[in-house]
Amino acid sequence: MKGIVLAGGTGSRLFPLTKITNKHLLPIYDKPMIYYPIQTLVDAGIRDIMIVTGGRNSGDFLRLLANGKHFGLKHIAYTYQEGEGGIADALSLCEHFADGQDVCVVLGDNIIEKSIRGAVEAFRMQADGARILLKEVHDAERFGVAEFDGDRIVGIEEKPKQPKSKYAVTGIYMYDATVFQKIHTCKPSHRNELEITDVNNAYIREGTMKYSFLDGWWTDAGTFESLLRATNLVAASKPQSERAAASAEEDAE
Ligand code: DAU
Repeated sequence: MKGIVLAGGTGSRLFPLTKITNKHLLPIYDKPMIYYPIQTLVDAGIRDIMIVTGGRNSGDFLRLLANGKHFGLKHIAYTYQEGEGGIADALSLCEHFADGQDVCVVLGDNIIEKSIRGAVEAFRMQADGARILLKEVHDAERFGVAEFDGDRIVGIEEKPKQPKSKYAVTGIYMYDATVFQKIHTCKPSHRNELEITDVNNAYIREGTMKYSFLDGWWTDAGTFESLLRATNLVAASKPQSERAAASAEEDAE
């Protein structure tokens, strides 16, 4: 299985922080944001990874990540998204990289506490289709939201005013090779983007969408509120000893 981190887009909700840099290079506690989704993939045993970047600072990703030595990788692939055509548009650029294999996609601003290895293994056991990771939240209207009939997922609504469940669709998606054909049939939404929710609904209509529940905390980091929350969650999840050592080092400098 190949891994993909989507780090395009303009990060307009974080302006002016994103005026001179890409959102995914901003700090979350002690690391740049992009480190977290890459680590999510590596921790799940996925080592063949492509990063989709965009905007004027895309060269900085290469300077920061190089060939991925920090993550124990020998190589990272990069591609460039022109404009901000949406998550599905960014994913469509990875068709050649995927080369007919399954893919695990992580949005560059999604940060999680625990491993997704179990869900990745469950997807490997699936004959075909897709698998998404759901998380119960109190502000579902900010996300793609799952609708159920019993245990069966029957649809996903993107940022609904009145969510039909409390289950947000997190930015971690696993797809078989048909994902690219499905993207090619998508039409731009009212916000002029190719929506990943339309791709997921295509799998639901086909009857091949499965889901897992995400363990541990999850946050995006695309707004000022969620950027702060991400930093606080990461800091709080560090062992006290590690934080004490870090501040002792700071005091010594
Ligand atoms: O965080 C999970 C949510 O992410 C899902 O629940 C939603 O269904 C999904 O649409 C998405 O919602 P957002 O509105 O929060 O997505 P956003 O536009 O902030 O983009 C998230 C990441 O996707 C961003 O950090 C980089 C990547 N992206 C986004 C766009 C629009 C790209 O690489 N290219 C793009 O053109």
